[in-house]
Amino acid sequence: MSYVLGIDCGTSATKTVLFDSDGNAVASASKEYPLYQPANGYAEQDPLHWKNAMLDTVTEIICKSGVSADEIAGIGLSGQMHGLVMLDSGGNVLRNAIIWCDQRTQPQVDKMNVLAADKIAQISANPALTGWTLAKILWVRDNEPQIYEKCRHILLPKDYLRYVLTGEFATEVSDASGMQLLDVKNRCWSKELCSLFEIDTSLLARICESCEVTGKVTAHIADITGLRQGTIVVGGAGDNAAAAVGTGVCRQGRAFTTIGTSGVVFAHTDKPVIDPKGRVHTCCAAVPGSWHVMGVTQSAGLSLKWFRDNFCGAEKETAKLLGTDEYYIMDKQAETVAVGCDRLIYLPYLMGERTPHLDADARGVFFGLSAVHTKKHMLRAVMEGVAFSLRDCVEVFREMGLDITDMAACGGGAVSALWRSMLADLYGCEVKTLSSKEGPALGAAILAAVGAGIYSSVPQACGAIVKQDKLCTPDAQRAQLYEQYYRLYRKLYPSLKAGFSELAQL
Ligand code: XUL
Repeated sequence: MSYVLGIDCGTSATKTVLFDSDGNAVASASKEYPLYQPANGYAEQDPLHWKNAMLDTVTEIICKSGVSADEIAGIGLSGQMHGLVMLDSGGNVLRNAIIWCDQRTQPQVDKMNVLAADKIAQISANPALTGWTLAKILWVRDNEPQIYEKCRHILLPKDYLRYVLTGEFATEVSDASGMQLLDVKNRCWSKELCSLFEIDTSLLARICESCEVTGKVTAHIADITGLRQGTIVVGGAGDNAAAAVGTGVCRQGRAFTTIGTSGVVFAHTDKPVIDPKGRVHTCCAAVPGSWHVMGVTQSAGLSLKWFRDNFCGAEKETAKLLGTDEYYIMDKQAETVAVGCDRLIYLPYLMGERTPHLDADARGVFFGLSAVHTKKHMLRAVMEGVAFSLRDCVEVFREMGLDITDMAACGGGAVSALWRSMLADLYGCEVKTLSSKEGPALGAAILAAVGAGIYSSVPQACGAIVKQDKLCTPDAQRAQLYEQYYRLYRKLYPSLKAGFSELAQL
C-alpha cells in the first residue's frame, strides 16, 4: 500500500495528516500557534512557528503511524493564502509574516488603483485588495525600506514550508492567484504588473501547476523528521483550492462552503469568470485548465473563536469536566435560542470585510441589543451573522449567473449541525458533508497522489476518494424567518458605512 501526506498550514494551527491511497486518514497531528495583532486591523504570524509546527507534526506522524517512510509516495502542501513571507539571501525570515486578514494596506491599495486599477483587474482578474500579497509587499517597501532592501525571496505561507522541506523556491497557480502578480488567465507571472509596481521578478518563486513535482525532501529534513530523503513534494494549493479537491469540487456546478477562521463560498468554473464589481475572487483552480470563484467573509470561525475566548470561560470549564469540545457546548446553548435571536443581528466584520463590501474599515456590530438578551442570544447571533455573510457570497454568485447544483460544507464550523442547517435554510438548497473531515489536508494529499502517479488526474482521484456523508435539507418555515432577518441584515452595512470610515480615522 502506498501513502500520501497532506500538510495544511492554517491560521490557528498546522495540521498534518497521513492518508492511504484510498484517502483514509491513518494518522494525524496538529500544533497551534499564536496570531499577533500589534494594532487594530493588523494580523501577523511567525513563519518559524509554522516551520516548527510542520516539523513536529510530521515527526509525530512518522513515529506513531507505524507506516514506513519508504511507503510515503509524496507530500502535498496547502495553506492560508495571501500571507507575505520575506527571506534574505541566506533563506532567513526577515520579519513576521503579514497574513491574509491584515488590513493595514489601504494607502497602498489607493496608490495601486491610481496607477493601474484597470490593468490590475484585467490581468490579476481581481481588483486591488488590502489583504492580498502585492499591497503588503508595497507596505513593507514604503514603511520598512531597510527590510525590503535585504529581501531576496517572497513566498506564501505553505511555500515557505516547501522551502524548509526541499530547499526549493516554488509556488503553484492557485495560491499565486492571491498575490495579485499572476496573470490568472494564462497561469504565469505577469511581467507587466511586476514592472508597473517595480517588483523584481527574481524575488518571486518558480510557478507550477498544483500536482506538479516541485522538489524532494532534503537529507537534513529526512534526518530530523524520519521522512525518506527524496520523497517528492508537489505544488499543492491555497487552502481553499485544496479544500475544493478534498471535497470533490472539481466540476462546473459544484461548490462548497467552508467555515474556518475565514468563511468561503467556492465554486469551480471551466473558464475564468469575473465579477465586474470585484466582490468575489477569481483564481486558478488546483485542477489544471480550470478556475474558481470564491466569496470570502473575513471573520467566520474567527468571530466564534473571539466570542469563545472573551465570553465563554464557563463553557470551557464545563467542556473540560465533561471531556467534550467547548464548541459542542456552545452549539447546544445556541440551539436553545429561536431563529433571529429575539431580534438581535450580528455583523461579522471584526477584521473588515471582503465579499460583498470590500471595506477594510468595516467592524463588528451587534444590532438590536436589548436587556432581554443573554449571552446565548449573542452566541447564536454570531453564528447567524456569519451565515448571513455567506449568503451574501451566494447572492453574488447568483447575480453572476453561476448555477450551483451541489453544495458541500467543510472546515471546523461544518461540524456544527446547527450552522449547517442555517446555511441550508439561507441558501435554499441541500448542504452535504463528506465522510472525510480533512478538507485542505486531504486535497493536498490527493494532489500528491496525482503527482506520484497513483491517480492519473485530480477528477479521477476525487471520484475514487471523496464520499458523501450527511445531507442537510432546508426547512421552509425556518427559511422564511431567516429571510426576514437577512433582508434587514443587508440594509445595515450601507447605513453604517460612513460611520465605519469615521471610526477608522479616530
Ligand atoms: C481567501 C482567504 C482565506 C485564507 C485563510 O482569500 O483569505 O480563506 O486563505 O484561510
